[in-house]
Amino acid sequence: MVLTLDEVKKDFSQGEEVLNVLKGVDLNVSEGETIAILGKSGSGKSTLLSLLCGIDDATSGNISYRSNSLKNLNSEEITDLRAKHIGVVFQQFHLLEHLNAYENVLLPLEVNGNSDKSERVDYFLEKVGMSHRKSHFPNQLSGGEKQRIAIARALVTHPGVLLADEPSGSLDENTGGEVMDLIFDIVRDERMSLVLVTHDKDLAKRCEKIYHLENGVLSLED
Ligand SMILES: Nc1ncnc2c1ncn2[C@@H]1O[C@H](COP(=O)(O)OP(=O)(O)OP(=O)(O)O)[C@@H](O)[C@H]1O
Ligand SMILES: [Mg+2]
Repeated sequence: MVLTLDEVKKDFSQGEEVLNVLKGVDLNVSEGETIAILGKSGSGKSTLLSLLCGIDDATSGNISYRSNSLKNLNSEEITDLRAKHIGVVFQQFHLLEHLNAYENVLLPLEVNGNSDKSERVDYFLEKVGMSHRKSHFPNQLSGGEKQRIAIARALVTHPGVLLADEPSGSLDENTGGEVMDLIFDIVRDERMSLVLVTHDKDLAKRCEKIYHLENGVLSLED
């Protein structure tokens, strides 16, 4: 298994109140498998993704990447795991504003000490159709272009799994469709697993399995 979640719970404290967002999530993602997670706004999809990539801790339960429990890793080791093996396309892109498009995509390779593999930057910029915008800074790019750069950045390290949060959410239908075609093509070509978070049922159908996140638990659609 690439990712295993066992009884994962996540609470947020808001003053006196405790918000139980995830109430016992179980999930297995196998090698090369594509899964979609459908759920209403506020159901906890982005929260779940932030636990999967280790940027936030579960309140209880266990998350493992290829049998390594995230609990047994310190924060440096988690950063290293994410940098090497987990590609993330965030809902809000999170590009670094002071780096241009090329530098944003190169950054994960630099973090991994793999700056010598910079031909991968050109390869993925080409794949996402952004070779002509290499030296543009994020504030000089359209929303769809930023999304493409975020996708190239997530893929450049050849992660075992790609986590994508509404990757076509802010795009028009045509551009969104193209971005999704691109993600599915690359995931298949590079034999990655995909966890796609969305509230778009048609998009979810392109994945091998569909899960629904509702009332804090995941259930598999049959
Ligand atoms: N850091 C936080 N502190 C307190 N509450 C939070 C925090 N992060 C998220 N929440 C709450 O947890 C719930 C789930 O949020 P989340 O962002 O995971 O939803 P989502 O399913 O991704 O929604 P959307 O489809 O709108 O992106 C929301 O009610 C939100 O207000
Ligand atoms: Mg969200």
